[in-house]
Amino acid sequence: MTYNLEKEDDMSIEAGLKIAIDGPAGSGKSIVARELARRLKATYLDTGAMYRAITLKLLRRNTDLSDLPQVEMVLQRTTIVLSPGEGVFLDGEDVTEEIRKPAVNAMVSRVAELTAIRRKLVRQQQEIAASAGSIVMEGRDIATRVLPDASFKFYLDAALTERARRRMLEQHDKGMALSFESVLNEIKERDLIDSGRADSPLTVAPGVSVIDTTELTVEEVVERILEAVNSRSMRRD
Ligand code: CDP
Repeated sequence: MTYNLEKEDDMSIEAGLKIAIDGPAGSGKSIVARELARRLKATYLDTGAMYRAITLKLLRRNTDLSDLPQVEMVLQRTTIVLSPGEGVFLDGEDVTEEIRKPAVNAMVSRVAELTAIRRKLVRQQQEIAASAGSIVMEGRDIATRVLPDASFKFYLDAALTERARRRMLEQHDKGMALSFESVLNEIKERDLIDSGRADSPLTVAPGVSVIDTTELTVEEVVERILEAVNSRSMRRD
């Protein structure tokens, strides 16, 4: 079976193809994963949006993160739905825009350190993968924890200053005038917490293909991944 890179609307894919994409903030994971899923006609899952949604709820309730019974209680009463093409819903409310705001950025990595949170979200992510025909899932622990048996595993990275530049431009597009310095510090801080936590840290697992996207366009990264998928499939034919 091959993946036709030219005729993107006529691409046949192996049933149950699972692609894991991990990497730090601003490495290009989301845009690349979304485009890949579109071309492969696969489900796309942004697991970061789920951590962001629960963070928003804990923020709104002013929950003390060291009060684990309280965190557990909030978690049990929370429903997060990622609806393709429609957005992210927290207990039925559309929070697509709000979960990208600076208050959530500043707290999400602290929330994502908590094992109770991870356990629930990882289970939900695995259920989504099990019921999807094919899936492109992006996050921090997809290859290591959520889909250790994924057909393909990629880790996207880029120089810190380039990642901050991309994130700053995205935020400017949304009307948020944040300084380069503040964006750089925010993602540096998140990288540190995400890579240093005890439960499922951000890391390059063995067998994962690393792509440095610093000098690459989105299209180049997508093509590189499709070529890897295509060439392995051809070898199997
Ligand atoms: O888009 P960006 O790379 O800034 O972040 P994101 O993918 O939306 O993820 C936000 C945060 O959620 C990360 O900084 C991690 O703390 C956490 N996260 C995680 O722990 N595990 C995942 N699979 C996805 C996100």
